[in-house]
Amino acid sequence: MRQNQPLFPARLHHLCLSVREHERSLAFYRDALGLAPAPLPGTNAWVLSGGQRTLILEAGPPAQLRYAAYAVGDERQLDALRERLRHNDITPEASPSPLLREGAFAARDPDGGLVAFGLPRAVPGPADRLPGRLQHVVKRSAQIERITAFYRDGLGFELSDTVLEGPHQQRAAFLRSDHEHHSFAVFHATEPAFDHFSLEANSWNDLRDWADHFAGLATPLFWGPGRHGPGNNLFLMVRDPEGNAVEVSAEIETITDGRAPGVWQHNERTLNLWGGSWIRS
Ligand SMILES: [Fe+2]
Repeated sequence: MRQNQPLFPARLHHLCLSVREHERSLAFYRDALGLAPAPLPGTNAWVLSGGQRTLILEAGPPAQLRYAAYAVGDERQLDALRERLRHNDITPEASPSPLLREGAFAARDPDGGLVAFGLPRAVPGPADRLPGRLQHVVKRSAQIERITAFYRDGLGFELSDTVLEGPHQQRAAFLRSDHEHHSFAVFHATEPAFDHFSLEANSWNDLRDWADHFAGLATPLFWGPGRHGPGNNLFLMVRDPEGNAVEVSAEIETITDGRAPGVWQHNERTLNLWGGSWIRS
């Protein structure tokens, strides 16, 4: 834990998504991401576990992020983080996650989204056949400045990069909770929504294997392979049966302490340094 910065380090541990057609989604996440589903007793929810990636799916409205959960290192860090929230007039709420130990809590962002912090009940499992640990989550918001301020000033994430349209209009913000470029990001939109989550693989070769794996399932890549500007990570993306974007990334930028936030212009090459797609007619 850093002095006066109790969030550091924290890592994205799991997400809870609501899905309308849970059978299709359970099958997708089992086959495409290698996640074994187990029902949560007494609920309409399932825990999908891999070695280094975990999701919870709830039956409900499609394509909604119910919450994101970050793991911190120990009780002392968790206590300090709770105190920071109170100091910043953020009232900690009960943790919604069954995967975090007693003492976990959650904070509600200006769009009503929940982000939980705690200590995981289970230790990470063995390596997955295709490497990809859950690494970041991205939301859309119509009030991107407020969301950025909440995560940065309220919770204690650090701003790595901002994307602007023209001199001032914020289009994206990338924030980190450890040395990796972003564990949370927010994109400008006309209404709040879940955008995507990302699995961080070990190398570029892993992305080749993931792409071959998706091809074997006839799951098309809808974007990539490419390289993002902010984060400098190699990436490809597929969609789950309800349209949620799933990213597989590699070689995300690591940040040394004291690096000033970067500023990018909102254009195609910022989103993908390798350029946009070309479709043969
Ligand atoms: Fe991403």
